[in-house]
Amino acid sequence: MSLWFLLLGFAVHLALASTIPSPRPLVLWHGLGDSHSSPGMLEFMKLIKEIHPGIFIHSIFISEDLNEDKKAGFYGNVLEQLEFVADQLAAIPELEAGFDAVGLSQGGQFLRAYVECYNKPPVNNLITFGSQHMGISDIPICKPFDFLCQIARKAAKRAVYSTWAQENLIQAQYYRDPNNYASYLHANHFLPYVNNEIEEARNQTYARNFASLSNLVLVMFTEDKLVVPKESSWFGYEELRDSVVSDASDQQRFLAMDKKIIPMREQPLYIEDWIGLRELDERGAVVFSECVGEHMEMGDCWEELIVEYTGGSL
Ligand SMILES: *[C@@H]1O[C@H](CO)[C@@H](O)[C@H](O)[C@H]1NC(C)=O
Repeated sequence: MSLWFLLLGFAVHLALASTIPSPRPLVLWHGLGDSHSSPGMLEFMKLIKEIHPGIFIHSIFISEDLNEDKKAGFYGNVLEQLEFVADQLAAIPELEAGFDAVGLSQGGQFLRAYVECYNKPPVNNLITFGSQHMGISDIPICKPFDFLCQIARKAAKRAVYSTWAQENLIQAQYYRDPNNYASYLHANHFLPYVNNEIEEARNQTYARNFASLSNLVLVMFTEDKLVVPKESSWFGYEELRDSVVSDASDQQRFLAMDKKIIPMREQPLYIEDWIGLRELDERGAVVFSECVGEHMEMGDCWEELIVEYTGGSL
């Protein structure tokens, strides 16, 4: 009798265990000036695990060494880093069946590039916080004592579209000069490609992969001064001047004017659907979200997004 109950209990236990779904794994890509396992990132992971007990989380690294990893946020070649990350993710057995992804700041547009160019294993939901999807029109300002940042900024400001800057300074690789769009298209080997901005080089795979996301959650920080313009996190951008003004005096007049922001749905990238963004949006899969505060001032605003868009069942 008691053995019978024991067996029955065991069978019930097995049945339950197989119906309790395990949460979908999560991949994080940290932001500029941070590293894969900084105190902030470790705390973030701990809080996510409290929300989704048992969740597997991988924090992307370029180098396992924390200082080197931080440095790689300023110095390096984005395309090479992406290839390295794609190999890293493909080698993790827990991620085999796909994962959700959260990108902080520049980590967000790099994760989007991963989705477009690789997506093996595939991303389900992608959440990006304050990411420069349409580029930046100014190189980010640095904290007073952040020497690493200041050197990179100086070098980038001096010759942003030089071959050296484009191969070695990360921020230069998503600098999109609204007054000099032609140079950007010509010199930059990262952003114009993942945004499919170069007509002859448009890659349909990027659009197909990107449109395969379940949800794309775009978070903008309302007071962001590091991402210029902040609307870049929502795929908006300043009007490109060299397409609307012809001579130098016009240009001067234009610079003095207020910068006009063209929102996502009025961008050629969206209208002609170069990257599958419009397809996503028309499916209702693009979520616009705001965090009140400066760049990466997360407060509590991340929490409901993590609850809703990560940790779903596989
Ligand atoms: C398009 O992108 C895919 C994925 O990155 C790549 O395998 C393919 O070679 C690219 N096609 C062209 C024509 O560049």
